[in-house]
Amino acid sequence: MKITIVGTGYVGLITGTCFANAGNNVTCLDIDPKKVETLNKGEAPFFEPGLSEMMTKSINAGRLDFSDDSSTAFTGSDIIFICVGTPTGNDGKCDLSYVLGVADDISKVLDTFDTPPVVVVKSTVPVGTTHRVAERLHGEYFIANNPEFLREGNAIDDFRTPDRVVCGVESEEAQAALEQLYAPFTGDGHPLLFFDIHSSEMVKYASNAMLACKISFINEIASLCERNGANIERVRTGMCADSRIGNQFFKPGIGYGGSCFPKDTLAVMEMGDNANAPCLVNTAVHELNQRQRRWFANRILEHFDNDLTGKKVALWGLAFKPNTDDVRDAPSIDIAKTLIDAGAEVTGFDPEAWETYGSEVPEVTIVSNMYEAAADADALVICTEWDEFSSPDFDLLKAKLKDQVIFDGRNLYIRAEMARHGFHYYSVGRPTLEICTA
Ligand code: UGA
Repeated sequence: MKITIVGTGYVGLITGTCFANAGNNVTCLDIDPKKVETLNKGEAPFFEPGLSEMMTKSINAGRLDFSDDSSTAFTGSDIIFICVGTPTGNDGKCDLSYVLGVADDISKVLDTFDTPPVVVVKSTVPVGTTHRVAERLHGEYFIANNPEFLREGNAIDDFRTPDRVVCGVESEEAQAALEQLYAPFTGDGHPLLFFDIHSSEMVKYASNAMLACKISFINEIASLCERNGANIERVRTGMCADSRIGNQFFKPGIGYGGSCFPKDTLAVMEMGDNANAPCLVNTAVHELNQRQRRWFANRILEHFDNDLTGKKVALWGLAFKPNTDDVRDAPSIDIAKTLIDAGAEVTGFDPEAWETYGSEVPEVTIVSNMYEAAADADALVICTEWDEFSSPDFDLLKAKLKDQVIFDGRNLYIRAEMARHGFHYYSVGRPTLEICTA
């Protein structure tokens, strides 16, 4: 099939590359000519395992190209995917101007098609937006919605072996085209689900909101555990043994970040307000997430009697989660800013997010080695659970640190081991003991 993808952000680029890899002819359209030039060389603008290799393979096979020319990029397309951003605007509302702008661009060329294309909204949009896109299209087309459920860092696998693919359609033509396109990725255990368009749009928000809810819930229980002498890791294990609860997205920490959960919970709250049906659970989920970051930063401040003047803090993990260089809404940003405001000098290390983080918090000195970050530091703060942090050389770490204090926002270590090494170890939802037994 001939496919046009509009927007080469995370969703657009992964989608376009994976469809091209499956044998389709894909053109990805973006307004930024410099970005287009880089993409045509097979260079991904962000870190995602396996992506550049797959792009290069499809570009060399002539199945994938990138363009900034909207007058030609749509020519002969069977399916057009709208994958542009829906950021939260200054007023806190979901900004749909990019999505609706693309609809206007498509509308201008609709009369050049021999066969009406299927226009698919893939961007995460509030319920009703796909129909707003349709209202702006003048000519012949079939409309559809197809939310994406990719996780950064795992996106290629998620695309190729999806838990499910959800489509909202209102014509047989759109359904047939999407069935054909997704056939290589769906089948046994990977259902392709067709709903009405409003329900499809809602599945996306409801899924992210549910996952965010699980995280805030476990963080709230972690806080209770700590205050009552229980250990959240044991409590979680006990809870997750109940198959009705399950064990995913239930790790306590310093809250969720990234470009999706924070934005999508706010969008759900906005939908509730607009419908005069306030979303109380989602409001609490959002507030708990903000509280979790503040609580962790305050714990560090309290350890230093609220004055970090002249103190040096090492920060391991800057990305909002492992296996990405994305720092959007990363807890490490709020935490570093709080420490800097309290007078600390912060040195950061991240395996991938060294470039992206610099513009967010320029005061943080970024170094290229985790032990170098710890050199002479009065404390080590861990914000992201990268693999390389899980079994560090504790003797070396101890020798590097000036004061052997660790604030672990991801519960990476066994407390008894930390006590054995002589660290003063703080974690999340586990009693803080300088000498502990588990
Ligand atoms: C999320 C969803 O998982 C995807 O299904 C969805 O497609 C995507 O949003 C989107 O809407 O585009 P993503 O933001 O890439 O994906 O990252 P996640 O792996 O979901 O992690 C989100 C945040 O939750 C991270 O900050 C992570 O550290 C945190 N988290 C996750 C926890 O604190 N605890 C957990 O148990 C799991």
